[in-house]
Amino acid sequence: MSLKTDTDFGQVLAEATLNGVNDSHERERKFLPYGRQHVWDEDIQAVETVLRSDWLTQGPTIPAFEKKLEEYIRAHQAVACANGTAALHLAMLALGVGEGDEIVTTPNTFLSSANCARFVGAEVRFADIDAATGLMDPASLSDVLDSDHKKKIKVVIPVHFAGQPVELPKIQSLAKAHGAWVVDDACHALGAEYEYEKQTYRVGGSPHSDMTVFSFHPVKHVAMGEGGAIATYNSDLAGRLRCFRNNGMQKEDFVYQEMGLAPDGKANPWYYEMHELGFNYRLTDMQAALGISQLWRLPWSLERRGRIASLYHQLISDSFENDAVRPLTLLPNRKHAYHLFVVQIDFERFGVNRAAVMNYLKEAGIGTQVHYIPIHLQPYYRKRYGTALGDFPQAEQYYAKALSLPMYPDLTEADCQRVIRALKAALGATA
Ligand SMILES: Cc1ncc(COP(=O)(O)O)c(C=O)c1O
Repeated sequence: MSLKTDTDFGQVLAEATLNGVNDSHERERKFLPYGRQHVWDEDIQAVETVLRSDWLTQGPTIPAFEKKLEEYIRAHQAVACANGTAALHLAMLALGVGEGDEIVTTPNTFLSSANCARFVGAEVRFADIDAATGLMDPASLSDVLDSDHKKKIKVVIPVHFAGQPVELPKIQSLAKAHGAWVVDDACHALGAEYEYEKQTYRVGGSPHSDMTVFSFHPVKHVAMGEGGAIATYNSDLAGRLRCFRNNGMQKEDFVYQEMGLAPDGKANPWYYEMHELGFNYRLTDMQAALGISQLWRLPWSLERRGRIASLYHQLISDSFENDAVRPLTLLPNRKHAYHLFVVQIDFERFGVNRAAVMNYLKEAGIGTQVHYIPIHLQPYYRKRYGTALGDFPQAEQYYAKALSLPMYPDLTEADCQRVIRALKAALGATA
């Protein structure tokens, strides 16, 4: 059976009663989640081949995946690992970030972009976003850096939110002036590009950051179940990333040469040393096989996502007046990777609340999500730093209006029309 077409995912929900939707055919239709993977026969065959081979992990498919990824993003080196959170943690470890250090990220991101600092004992600071784009505002970053008189900030972690490239060259110049590294979180942005000084750079393959982090969670562009990677131009950092991902084990540069080296001066075949504390953040060969197979289809899936986004833009401008529902602002000279399609909805103007709209859409077989609850409002961060409502007005203003509509390559034109029709009904019907 080909899994190319929609499967029965969410069928139970599709069978749910559709309050207020008059079209009886809607009841029969499939559930549209906010994001989902596409798994084809060739993916299954690729994984099966590995399952029948000698290597389920630590085998040859992992470097083969890393090479394909390097080629695609035009990176000098790519280091694969267990997931995007592990990739961020590894980036902190490779840079030697620890207690007494600080990092800056934005409140409008997934928890891991901030948590990675806490994993290594460093503290987190936030720079506000531009509410129109959801992206880190370089002016706010500049203010945060200026206030850091003791130069504790060691890393800036901007996020290519939703798949739109952040202003990386500008952010890098601010960070460098402060003596900080840049680790861009591209978990939403595999395949995104931007132009700078008449040259086009692909996210992860540009000289405007030190490391770039990716996730291969099923809702992302390349679905590997779980998976992550770090791209870098810096061979020393790549070496440290590889070591930390494998429990800190190293098979060269021994401190205890009398133990590590055989009489001929070569490394003893069994010997390894651990100089720094590492983790098991390895990827498996099955995941890598799935990744290689999915990377082949990435240009197709990015193209599909771009078309779906254009259609949404058109449908939204035809259906709603005066920016009452507004997609995020697109910045010039960029190729958006459209991991998410976020709209800003003036719920107050419609006299509805977001939960009611989401529940209505769910009943109509349409999944939505909110990306993201500002991280400074999470109880952990409130408690640690005393942050509160009002601290990052742009992120909070953005959050109050955010709703992510379904976005994945298998959506059809009719699906998109159905989403916008149902959204219109939800905003009217629950008034
Ligand atoms: C912006 C961002 N950073 C980091 C991560 C963490 O990736 P993973 O789920 O693979 O650990 C995610 C995942 O959703 C993300 O969206």
